[in-house]
Amino acid sequence: MSAIRTINVSLGDRSYPIVIGNGLLNGGFDLTDFVPGSDCLIVSNDVVAPLYRDRLLPNLSGKAISTLDLPDGESHKSMATMRTVLDQLVSKGANRDTTVIALGGGVVGDIAGFAAACYMRGVAFIQVPTTLLAQVDASVGGKTGVNHPHGKNLIGAFHQPRVVMIDIDTLSTLPDRELRAGLAEIIKYGAICDIDFFAWLEENMAALLERDTEALVYAIGRSCELKARIVADDERELGRRAILNFGHTFAHAIENCQGYGEWLHGEAVAAGMVLAASLSDIAEAENERLQALVAAAGLPVKAPAIAVDEWLRAMGLDKKVQNKQLRFVLLGALGESMLTSSYDAGKLRRILGGSAV
Ligand code: NAD
Ligand code: GLY
Repeated sequence: MSAIRTINVSLGDRSYPIVIGNGLLNGGFDLTDFVPGSDCLIVSNDVVAPLYRDRLLPNLSGKAISTLDLPDGESHKSMATMRTVLDQLVSKGANRDTTVIALGGGVVGDIAGFAAACYMRGVAFIQVPTTLLAQVDASVGGKTGVNHPHGKNLIGAFHQPRVVMIDIDTLSTLPDRELRAGLAEIIKYGAICDIDFFAWLEENMAALLERDTEALVYAIGRSCELKARIVADDERELGRRAILNFGHTFAHAIENCQGYGEWLHGEAVAAGMVLAASLSDIAEAENERLQALVAAAGLPVKAPAIAVDEWLRAMGLDKKVQNKQLRFVLLGALGESMLTSSYDAGKLRRILGGSAV
């Protein structure tokens, strides 16, 4: 086991640690201190549970454990699936001191977290993310929720976990396509707020794709550090937190228009970041740098073919819309970003019209 790195998310009495390392499963990190009562529900899915659930049990020694495996995939991130988590909590006689533990990627984390936010108006929640994307983004910051057929992540709640335990050993079984999807959110952090990290990613993308442990630990740690800082400043996205949505207005529209699960979230974010950069008033060389890094990560630089009106319909349900007007996270330069309603609407239509692969 290598050294454990801990990053704190500072939110007053809702502060919590993000613990990063390898060998944390199999009892390598004691989670019982974060479990207020005697019982837990481990929510996972039918891919991750057979791989890792037994390895999580020693971290919860002495606690009464029940389990629920959800069907795998973004297409199941729905109210119906979330309801099955609530049903399980009811049928197990869960109380206010029950803890819900999400073991899996962002889909499991978002659904389980939303159920934890709703059950008895909120029970304790722990994140054990097992995809790169969930380790660098979805498990941190307390956004939970599900999709609506007409819009991505439209239904949800803020509900912070008590702890996020990131065992990077879990990445050894992650398919290559899913690893690349996680790299999209990592690139996002460099693009929105840390040009040095962006440059580091340019240097180290090959090592990340080869799953070099040292490179992964650095990239996951830096991503969590940056996200923790932004969330601590603006937990409920009243302002600056919106920059974490760079590329996401486009991405959510892609996911909705293509059908949930067709494009992976990270793939849609990659193409969405390239579109957002094109809409930004930045030097062409910076635009090209972003595209080159996205391509180097094996991610799409072009969105799928979607009619402009379809784009605009789907983006109209974006959570950043204010007074019926779209707002975008745009770059002032690589490494600097802002949420703005000031953009060239004609350019937007031209970009959307020319976006197809
Ligand atoms: P995912 O949860 O669908 O996981 C991807 C795939 O990998 C799934 O098939 C899963 O079963 C499998 N898997 C998970 N861990 C594995 C492992 N260790 N080995 C082998 N297979 C494994 O997708 P994701 O990319 O983790 O998450 C995407 C979701 O996260 C989207 O719904 C997105 O909206 C959400 N998200 C939420 C936030 C947030 O702040 N709450 C942030 C970013 C993304
Ligand atoms: N993934 C965007 C956020 O957490 O705010």
